[in-house]
Amino acid sequence: MTRDAFGNDFCWGVSTAAYQIEGAHEAEGKGASIWDVFSGTKGKVKLNHNGNLACDFFNRYPDDLELMQQMHIPNFRFSLSWPRLLPQGFGRPNKAGLAYYNRLIDHCLELGITPWVTLYHWDLPHALEKQGGWTNRAVLDWFEEYTTLCVNQFGDRVNHWMVLNEPMVFTGAGYFLGVHAPGRRGFGSFVPAVHHAALCQAIGGRTIRRLQPEATIGTTFSCSYITPYRPEEKDARTVRRVDALLNRLFLEPALGLGYPLDDLKFMRRIEKYMKPGDEDLLPFEFDFIGVQNYTREVVKHSFWTPFLQANLVPARKRNVPYTLMNWEVYPESIYHMLHQFSQYANIPKLIVTENGAAFPDQVLDGKVHDPQRVAFLQQYLQQVHRAKAEGVKVSGYFVWSFVDNFEWAEGYDPRFGLVHVDYETLQRTIKSSGYWYRDFLQGKATL
Ligand code: BGC
Repeated sequence: MTRDAFGNDFCWGVSTAAYQIEGAHEAEGKGASIWDVFSGTKGKVKLNHNGNLACDFFNRYPDDLELMQQMHIPNFRFSLSWPRLLPQGFGRPNKAGLAYYNRLIDHCLELGITPWVTLYHWDLPHALEKQGGWTNRAVLDWFEEYTTLCVNQFGDRVNHWMVLNEPMVFTGAGYFLGVHAPGRRGFGSFVPAVHHAALCQAIGGRTIRRLQPEATIGTTFSCSYITPYRPEEKDARTVRRVDALLNRLFLEPALGLGYPLDDLKFMRRIEKYMKPGDEDLLPFEFDFIGVQNYTREVVKHSFWTPFLQANLVPARKRNVPYTLMNWEVYPESIYHMLHQFSQYANIPKLIVTENGAAFPDQVLDGKVHDPQRVAFLQQYLQQVHRAKAEGVKVSGYFVWSFVDNFEWAEGYDPRFGLVHVDYETLQRTIKSSGYWYRDFLQGKATL
């Protein structure tokens, strides 16, 4: 099957995020983000890696965009760094930050690459975290001010917006488990962070719509197909709870269905943070939902695990193929999630805004041969096509990621790029998967 099988109007692209690629963490008036502080704290990130330099995309974007053009990639998803634009989180904007994103957006357009911009991909200004970050309801105003600035500054050239990247991951890992920035733990932080992120998701959408009525507006969700470890009723009930937490917690309020509290009784304390009228503020009619899928989760009931009473059974223990992230390679997961999301009555169109894999890539004689990643992308895309052929409204696919980059708590070891980055020299080398994607996009390679 070639690219044509997906239709002419299917959007193809690659995804990245500011903190993972830009570097220049203190350049030209940028404020600190929670990730600058977290990665600068010993023991938080593997090998104490940080994003201070990352891929130096801040300086190297002209070359990187030219590489993207040579690879025939028509759409580029990247995020804006809130503290680069508003070092204090609100108030006076940083002119140099505005100028940088203006240059980046203009350069994309000059090369015929369409920018798809995420407002928030996890790098909250540290100044705001000092005031409670996502747990402080004032974030609703801060986020609206930030969104307004971005749309007023870039909306004349950016037509595709995504409000949040994976709210479940940044609230769960950052405010409940403490393994991502800002490293807070427990229900007392998690529950208000969830509610405020869900409200900001809709506030962001409404703000963009008001200022730029013609814009295409989405938001993105992490999702994994959840299956039971054993054919037992208690594992089936566990599947429903984990699915509600990982796949439905942010999607359903956005669709006007409220939080899935029937399947997540322990989340009922979220009602404590709800102010009169909040129910009406949670929904927003997005133009698309970004689906971000990498793997599936196999779960079993566990009496001893607090709240969720579930354990994930790692791929390693199940004798199945898995990536460097220890995530099972399970292409059908994306097919099932596209179907699951498309079953909601008022779901807008779906776009796969992230999918990809980390494998141990090596440069040999100036080349990076990564057949596992080529096979991974082909198999997942076959499943996207299968869902589309069955009537699911899926209209785009973005590979995570364009270049190898800073993989959050895992540091630089897991490489997800179509393009290899040598972190000593910062040299870029297109991997076989990058060449395959290029050829596929030109209709010359198949799935
Ligand atoms: C995130 C990316 C991350 C990728 C691989 C997604 O959860 O949006 O920032 O690098 O998955 O872990």
